Amino acid sequence: MRKVPVSYLMPGMRLARPVLGDKGEVYLNTGVTLTQRYIEKLSAIGFCAVYVEDKLLNGVEIRDVVTEKTRRDAIVEVRKVLVQAASPKARVLNAGPELTKVAESIVTELLDNPLSVVNLMDIRAAGAYLFHHSVNVCILAVLTGINFGLPRGQLLDLALGALLHDVGKLRVDPAILNKPGKLTEEEFSQVQKHCAYGQEMLREHRVASMIAYAHHERYNGEGYPLGLRGRDIGLLPQIVGLADVYDALTSDRCYRAAVAPHEVLEMIAASGNWWFDVKLVENFLCCVAAYPTGAMVEVSSGEIGIVTDTPRAYPFFPNVRVLFNAKREKVFPYQMSTVEHNRWISRVLGEEEAQAVRELLH
Ligand SMILES: [Fe+2]
Repeated sequence: MRKVPVSYLMPGMRLARPVLGDKGEVYLNTGVTLTQRYIEKLSAIGFCAVYVEDKLLNGVEIRDVVTEKTRRDAIVEVRKVLVQAASPKARVLNAGPELTKVAESIVTELLDNPLSVVNLMDIRAAGAYLFHHSVNVCILAVLTGINFGLPRGQLLDLALGALLHDVGKLRVDPAILNKPGKLTEEEFSQVQKHCAYGQEMLREHRVASMIAYAHHERYNGEGYPLGLRGRDIGLLPQIVGLADVYDALTSDRCYRAAVAPHEVLEMIAASGNWWFDVKLVENFLCCVAAYPTGAMVEVSSGEIGIVTDTPRAYPFFPNVRVLFNAKREKVFPYQMSTVEHNRWISRVLGEEEAQAVRELLH
């Protein structure tokens, strides 16, 4: 399967993953054949891309790092807590047993599957951004924490804090949060207040409260609200801050298109001891794939192929199913490990070029 922007979907393509709505409900299920009406609906609701089946990837299984049920339950529970938080009466939030249970399931599943590499981008409608984002940040943060060797108790605190890190945003004017383009100084200071709001709302949960307060602090002191530096920030808020930056940039938003994972990872890799502790960056990089499965790429030796998977700890060196040789001649598909062959990815083909390459194969 591969991710296709909604504007490039064609009737007859089959969904390879369910499309979830903002309440965690299934809009369209795996296996559904897309019609023009479905495509128009997906676009009207605000979905930017979906996963469709891809014959070129036959035999390749892509699994999410957590089960579909856990991801869905997490979205449902986060939504409940955040909706409750939006009420002006909710001064103090109580993350109930359901949310704690969801955090536990995420930690348990990720601990049971230590070789996980995040390969799938979550698919979300424009209006459901915060719920899906919170769950994604939680998964990325826990994976990084596991890599760091944090004990289970701390991972649970990290998971809960990550699920609720942006709860304070519910107190910020949505018109400012969703404003396309640059914010005025006054608007930016309103946005910055979400950290203090979150800290106050979560005061019954010590670690989550600290994470909500400090997840925008940066290693070099350029963050907010206090401009703390280095170790003063604390490890858990820094992990959540890093996961937050990655997920925010790789998502389509109403005001800008998603940045490709490899570009965000290159930026993060270059940011060691600048925005984030370099050790933390190294641990984070083991957990995510720079080139998602299904991406059409050109290898440094000139071959064109499709990414099938990425070995852990080598985020920039995927395994590629080669379809064309360096002379652009069609070949019988074969697997190439870019790590073992000392190659790298020289570029990712854009959606139009990738479609043109696919047509040559028919
Ligand atoms: Fe935030």
